[in-house]
Amino acid sequence: MAIEHLEDVKIAQDIVIDPSKDAVELVGVSKIFKKSKPLLKRLLKRKQENEKREVRAVDDVTLTIRRREIVGILGANGSGKSTLVRMLSTLLIPDTGSVRIFGYDVEKDERMVQRLINRVSVEASFFKKLSPMENLIYAARLYNMPGAVARAKIRTILGRLGIPKDRIGQPLEHMSRGMQQKVAIARAFLTSPIVLLLDEPTTGLDPRSKIEVQNFVRELREVHDATILITTHDMDEAEALCDRVAIIDQGKIVAQGTVEELKQAVMERTERITPVTMNEVFMHYTVAHLITDADIERYGSWEKAFEAYEAQKEDESEQ
Ligand SMILES: Nc1ncnc2c1ncn2[C@@H]1O[C@H](COP(=O)(O)OP(=O)(O)OP(=O)(O)O)[C@@H](O)[C@H]1O
Ligand SMILES: [Mg+2]
Repeated sequence: MAIEHLEDVKIAQDIVIDPSKDAVELVGVSKIFKKSKPLLKRLLKRKQENEKREVRAVDDVTLTIRRREIVGILGANGSGKSTLVRMLSTLLIPDTGSVRIFGYDVEKDERMVQRLINRVSVEASFFKKLSPMENLIYAARLYNMPGAVARAKIRTILGRLGIPKDRIGQPLEHMSRGMQQKVAIARAFLTSPIVLLLDEPTTGLDPRSKIEVQNFVRELREVHDATILITTHDMDEAEALCDRVAIIDQGKIVAQGTVEELKQAVMERTERITPVTMNEVFMHYTVAHLITDADIERYGSWEKAFEAYEAQKEDESEQ
């Protein structure tokens, strides 16, 4: 968090949002990264070569999140989750489409959007020589929170996340990765964000801490009417926490709905009569692009083609 946020925050207390508007609205959003080319290739300027070097990290995504919703984004490594979150938090500009937070455009109303959103990721910036308490007091000041109130709140949050009392005053650089991650999470819960973007907040945390983070998320919604977007690789977490989930594969949203709706859809698509798990739902949608019409024809059904694909993968991993 940079010092330049100081002015914003004073204004932030007067922020009035229109609660009838959607909290998050993405329409046809894409982000293309161009990998830098080696000099020789650049001279050759081969068109095909250039095309290969483009990564469509986010590809024509349309998604709406209502106020007070908790929405999970699920996707394999490199599927575009963090890129999506970065666009929502004004860190990246979309190449196409529009991104709005309570009606404010991330490009045109950048400063306003920055006041409304709060992003937590493992790459959080902290003063590593300072302790969790010092770092969090600094953050609280940016939000004009009185010192005594902040101190008490910081102790409660860090305690709930399982940071031992004697570590609260020790330099951050001596803490484990998981502990540092908890401090980043604590910062988001210290103030009451309007739209909270959590990029894999619980990855690498122990089970008790995971549950505590999930409780905080629920509390923020219940007590402060927060809207939360969370990315996760943990299907149990998605199931326990999210009102809706969206599955992203190669930058595209391939399915969205409640956990029940998605399970039902997969049962219908695979003609299964026994219940499916969220893991199976995830597998179904994230390999969808690997199973072609030709495969379905060859194996007789989507399910059989999927089984063949899985068997082939198992064979490969055994070799
Ligand atoms: N700054 C960048 N420059 C070039 N390519 C990028 C950049 N950031 C992301 N990418 C590429 O975009 C794609 C999506 O990456 P992203 O980090 O959004 O995935 P992710 O779903 O968050 O993955 P993970 O689960 O591993 O965190 C990847 O192919 C990645 O290599
Ligand atoms: Mg990521």
